Amino acid sequence: MTTFLAANGITKVYDTAQGGTVTALDDVSFEIADREIIALIGPSGCGKSTLLRMIAGLDTAFTGELSWDVPPKRGQDIGFVFQEPALLPWRSVLRNVGLGLEGKGNSKSEIKRRSLELIELVGLSDFAESYPSELSGGMRQRVAIARALAYDPRILLMDEPFGALDAITRDSLQDELLKIWERTSKTIVIVTHSVEEAAYLADRVVVLSARPGRIRAVHTVPLSRERDSSIRETPEFARFTGVLRGELE
Ligand SMILES: Nc1ncnc2c1ncn2[C@@H]1O[C@H](COP(=O)(O)OP(=O)(O)O)[C@@H](O)[C@H]1O
Ligand SMILES: [Mg+2]
Repeated sequence: MTTFLAANGITKVYDTAQGGTVTALDDVSFEIADREIIALIGPSGCGKSTLLRMIAGLDTAFTGELSWDVPPKRGQDIGFVFQEPALLPWRSVLRNVGLGLEGKGNSKSEIKRRSLELIELVGLSDFAESYPSELSGGMRQRVAIARALAYDPRILLMDEPFGALDAITRDSLQDELLKIWERTSKTIVIVTHSVEEAAYLADRVVVLSARPGRIRAVHTVPLSRERDSSIRETPEFARFTGVLRGELE
């Protein structure tokens, strides 16, 4: 596997409103391989969102370096999915998904064709003309994923994307994400609070310590890449999630 992105000695110090400083990340280094799914876990406030924002190019005020195999173009190579899907309420599903394709020289019919393809990919074909207020939380998050994939980014960054969903919806969206990953060959970095979610989805799990976030461990997930929910019942799954849980304490 080739290295897609290497984080080398990333350190982030925030200035606080009170005139002090907070070290959010301290000397964080790890690598992401092409097509890999990396789960990033760690206690609240350890710098996970900060790290994703840096990878997305939304925060450039840090020391250390991010080395890409090919430097990414903003708004083209990086897709971002947040915990709360920021959909435009006055736009249909179709037009929310197409948002990132507008104003880039794509014709209306191209945008529509591509949007419908992605809506199909996330299983919402019957809802293309619906509005966000008519959808469940899980469906809205599917729209956000389709939108993030619209311009065919090379990497998909997801910040606790399923954290606000009920357990059943969450499990089904995890399967949906694996299916999308198989069909689209994206590199994915997903931040999660759930050790089960990390184990179920990832090739490798990066564990950060409490603030300041430092690398606590990097694990290769000891499970076959063929995942379905039966894997959650195996002793290997229980053992591995137990290890992760121990590292979060
Ligand atoms: N804009 C900011 N100004 C000052 N401190 C911040 C800012 N953003 C985040 N922090 C601090 O940096 C630390 C890491 O934040 P964050 O990346 O959001 O953590 P996580 O996503 O792991 O919960 C937290 O302690 C937070 O209080
Ligand atoms: Mg966060």
